[in-house]
Amino acid sequence: MYGQPIPKVQREPIDSFPNGSPPDKPKLMEGGNYIKEGRDSAKSTCLIFSPKAEDKVGCLGKFLQLFTEHHVNLLHIESRSSLRQANGYEFMVECAPGGDLGIAVEALKSQCNYFSIISRNHKDNIGTVPWFPRRIRDLDKFANQILTYGAELDADHPGFTDPVYRARRKYFADIAYHYKHGHPIPRVEYTKEEIATWGVVFRKLTELYPNYACREHNHVFPLLIENCGYREDNIPQLEDISNFLKDCTGFTLRPVAGLLSSRDFLAGLAFRVFHSTQYIRHSSKPLYTPEPDVCHEVLGHVPMLADPAFAQFSQVIGLASLGAPDEYIEKLATCFWFTVEYGICRQQGELKVYGAGLLSSFGELEYALSGKPELRPFDPAKTALQKYPITEYQPVYFVAEDFEDGKEKMLKFAQTIPRKFGVRYDPYTQSISIIDSKYQIEELVTNVNQEMEILMDALKKLKN
Ligand SMILES: [Fe+2]
Repeated sequence: MYGQPIPKVQREPIDSFPNGSPPDKPKLMEGGNYIKEGRDSAKSTCLIFSPKAEDKVGCLGKFLQLFTEHHVNLLHIESRSSLRQANGYEFMVECAPGGDLGIAVEALKSQCNYFSIISRNHKDNIGTVPWFPRRIRDLDKFANQILTYGAELDADHPGFTDPVYRARRKYFADIAYHYKHGHPIPRVEYTKEEIATWGVVFRKLTELYPNYACREHNHVFPLLIENCGYREDNIPQLEDISNFLKDCTGFTLRPVAGLLSSRDFLAGLAFRVFHSTQYIRHSSKPLYTPEPDVCHEVLGHVPMLADPAFAQFSQVIGLASLGAPDEYIEKLATCFWFTVEYGICRQQGELKVYGAGLLSSFGELEYALSGKPELRPFDPAKTALQKYPITEYQPVYFVAEDFEDGKEKMLKFAQTIPRKFGVRYDPYTQSISIIDSKYQIEELVTNVNQEMEILMDALKKLKN
């Protein structure tokens, strides 16, 4: 990266599953809940460290010995060129919970030039950074971290007493649970009943879009009809949409088996990955759903994710969330709610909707612009503190001037998040760089200079 040689990666799955082989199926727990208990690497602790200058090549053995001495199992080891110093190198090890990790960490710290801990158990370990994915394939770990599984429905859910619907929800949840990064999203043959439900929603909403939806949504929608099979009699496939989005803005979709935590969901956005449901609401209430479904995702979110400025805005929220303290995750999730889900913007003097929660809700789309609810200007520091109901129409909406303006405000807000490092997404390696050294910044400035030269050269040619 940034002029560094190709990283050397060693993979040594050591005791990957300390408690036996990984169960690949959800486990039915008491009370009928499905709980994922797969490989629990997200509860592991990641240590990134670089040896002192006097340490010679081959010193990895010395460090590994420390883990053995303190009974710490390692799930993964990587060695790579350091981005923090010229001609240096560093190690990343993923430790399973258990053993005398605290003592091993202290011993290791004293022998290292650079040391950083990233852990899911950040609440118990002062000084550690909350875990976040570093590579796009790390998002696979979220499959084991969902809060509810697809077949679980609340007693007031329209499909609660329908065994066929529940089985169908389990089918969709299983697809998502087994999904791995890089695989095509399995195509689904939707039933006649499901397509009929979609048809009602599609017809109602597409009648409203010309007057209510923002310019960007209306611009992209015909392209989705043309390229992704958006039709009243066809539920588009996530795989086709994901490929379309990739061409537009680099965003891709990933099926999700259940509810993710805000931290995990927002982290996906940092990689321009949007976690999407694939099931549809219950046919008894086509214009109501208590949770996001495929109508909400593909009619509300997808058209906006195809817009470059909006895609960047979404990624800014995602990047800000990486390693952020819990209270800031809540603030970012609230900003996400009032923008990506329920955002309104001003376009040529008129109020238009860009939030997916509104663009997928027949009633609330009209209500939001009816003059009844309160409208306030979008200001992340204030918006982040606003309480909101999740089961009824919003009493307050926030209005952005445009996505560029919203992005600038979000970037400024992100700078107030207490975090000892900067993060940057590298689209070539689809990974997150943690920026916490002068050397890295110098390298990045050199890259920006090169980009500037390309632009200046193009500008000169235009003038001639
Ligand atoms: Fe949503």
